Amino acid sequence: MGISFNAQERVFRLETPGSAYLIALIDEAGFLAHAYYGRSIPDDNMQYLTRSLSDQPFREMGRQLDYLNNLPMEYPCRGTGDFREACLAVETDEGYRTANLTYVSHKIYGGKPPLEGLPATCGGAEDCETLELLCEDKALGLHVTLLYTAFTRLDAITRSARIENAGTSGLSLTAALSACLDMEDQGFDLITLHGGWGCERMLCREALRWGEQGVRSTRGISSHQENPFIALAQHTATQDQGQVYAMNFVYSGNFLAQVESSHEGQLRAVMGIAPEEFRWYLSPGGAFQTPEAVLVYSHEGLGAMTRTFHDLYRKHLVRGPWRDRPRPSLVNNWEATYFDFDTEKLLDIARTAAKSGVEMLVLDDGWFGGRKDDHSSLGDWVVNEEKLPGSLKRLADEVNALGMKLGLWMEPEMVSPDSDLYRAHPDYALQIPSRDPILSRWQLVLDFSRKEVRDCVYDQLHKVLSSANIEYVKWDMNRELSDVWSSALPAGRQGELRHRYVLGVYELQERLLRDFPGLLLENCASGGSRFDPGMLYYSPQIWTSDNMDVVERLRIQEGTAMVYPLSTISAHVPACPSHTNGRTTPFETRGQVALPGCFGYELDLTKLTEEELSMIPGQLEDYKKYGPVFHDGDYYRLASYRENGEYDAFMSVTKDKGLAVVNYVQVLSRVPRKPPVLHLRGLDEGRRYRFTETGEERSGAAWMYGGLLLPRMMGDFHGKLFVLEEVRP
Ligand code: DGJ
Repeated sequence: MGISFNAQERVFRLETPGSAYLIALIDEAGFLAHAYYGRSIPDDNMQYLTRSLSDQPFREMGRQLDYLNNLPMEYPCRGTGDFREACLAVETDEGYRTANLTYVSHKIYGGKPPLEGLPATCGGAEDCETLELLCEDKALGLHVTLLYTAFTRLDAITRSARIENAGTSGLSLTAALSACLDMEDQGFDLITLHGGWGCERMLCREALRWGEQGVRSTRGISSHQENPFIALAQHTATQDQGQVYAMNFVYSGNFLAQVESSHEGQLRAVMGIAPEEFRWYLSPGGAFQTPEAVLVYSHEGLGAMTRTFHDLYRKHLVRGPWRDRPRPSLVNNWEATYFDFDTEKLLDIARTAAKSGVEMLVLDDGWFGGRKDDHSSLGDWVVNEEKLPGSLKRLADEVNALGMKLGLWMEPEMVSPDSDLYRAHPDYALQIPSRDPILSRWQLVLDFSRKEVRDCVYDQLHKVLSSANIEYVKWDMNRELSDVWSSALPAGRQGELRHRYVLGVYELQERLLRDFPGLLLENCASGGSRFDPGMLYYSPQIWTSDNMDVVERLRIQEGTAMVYPLSTISAHVPACPSHTNGRTTPFETRGQVALPGCFGYELDLTKLTEEELSMIPGQLEDYKKYGPVFHDGDYYRLASYRENGEYDAFMSVTKDKGLAVVNYVQVLSRVPRKPPVLHLRGLDEGRRYRFTETGEERSGAAWMYGGLLLPRMMGDFHGKLFVLEEVRP
């Protein structure tokens, strides 16, 4: 396991438990070519795979355009005759637009360095090894360090690049991507997570065709529409078999994840900041660090890919005191009251919640400035004492007296034109002076690239959070970036703004966590439009979608959980009929669909029927008992309503394989017939398990290969948790 260099073969080997990644140093040219990535192989002499078109060595072919256009490259550059998507593109002050990198030296060491100002996975020497490959373009005076980290217990490799101008004149980076996978097209499907507001991360799977295809965001955030994730899965790959190569970007702004497949059977997949709208000026001595891309390989299908992402993110990305702690159950007042609340109304909800055992009240939008609806006051983070007499202190004290915590909603990145902040500092908003800016939800985006803007917002937040016992913050962000221009940057550097904005958001969240170390932070963005590994570095949980209707949530949570752990997926029991689509579903099923995530209620508890109220303690007990199995265990997708149009099922198994919980939802009922059989996964074949519903005992093998007969339930939208406990002798 780990990383080595075979000097004779001139090959770098990155090895994880089930995969090998080989980089070849090509002949005298010093190109870093991609030799192999896939299932573990013992051999280092894999250079032959880099000669895809011609057997002739570099000395005969190296200056021929065709050579570079076909060489599988580790970090391809634009301008030399490699016409596929480049990771690096430059423009010098003289207007030269060619870059060409060759190897200089390397370092291999234990552990993983942090990426300054950026979120990234982390690990010590016992968890991972890092390879730094220093390359240069002598003509440009450009040094590029390619960073690779291989995890010793997970089939995950991370990549990023540090680009330094070691020359004497300035140059602009016009593309600086993070990773490239140049390899053989083995007949792949491209899997992406497409969506929109209320339907985030819908799983899409389509056969790759020749040419370019992929996903991107140019919205300034990772977006509702596309998640920074792609997987290349063999056509035949299922949950438990077949090869899968996945890439996920630890970043929350514009991104590109593109695959180009050629008729010659070659494929290039790249991931990084979208070059569109990007330009970064490097003065002599200046440096740019790209965000990190995570590569996961599985030869045991999509399920193993998912579990690798879950383990990696739970232990090596999410940080802080809440990483391993059960997350509190909560009641959020958004769909209960929208903007129409006061202290008394909130306390009514809290009292009902406390009686049932809910642990936290979250006060959502509308508590500040003169905010009566979404037309005003963002930026004025001062408590509205007309609604909340005695301020947040009184509310927090009373909520605490009920034995509950208090959480608070904020939207720090935004400003309403109708606000004191905007009236005093219109230049704090991103906008172009000669134009009327485009509004979205009546608001503008603050220029978080500027320290004075961040400081002004942060000082206000700090004051609010210090004024009362607030133990959780929901950090919302409700619009995309448009009219992107900053008064603080010269014309030639406006291309840096989108990235500087994202760095500003990261800096502020880091500050918040430093000053309030016990705080539980939940990110949110108009539902789930910034659900990405970048945000997970700061907040252990993210609001998944504003759509809480159980049927649609099944699809949203299926797509989300394919990459992100259940412990990061916030899910609430919504009001009925659903505020997003009007569907009526049983309270019990709404609870069950939310249960595997970070669980809460988002409705007016004071308006529930006695029968509904009486179900809450049981739901909370299930959350206490089985939440940890879902949050910390191994996730297995068993059936998908998206595919079968009838029912949905997944299960989680504790790491010691002693307890398994199946979350089953019958979406549409069918005429009586033989009940469906659910083939369980992840149990120990040889151990015996009791199905608690019926008391039946069987071996893990029987439950997996024979299967569990599903009980017949009459009617639509019924769910059930099935528990299997190990029978200990
Ligand atoms: C969008 C979020 O997704 C909702 O949960 C809610 O907090 C609203 N914003 C409040 O404006």
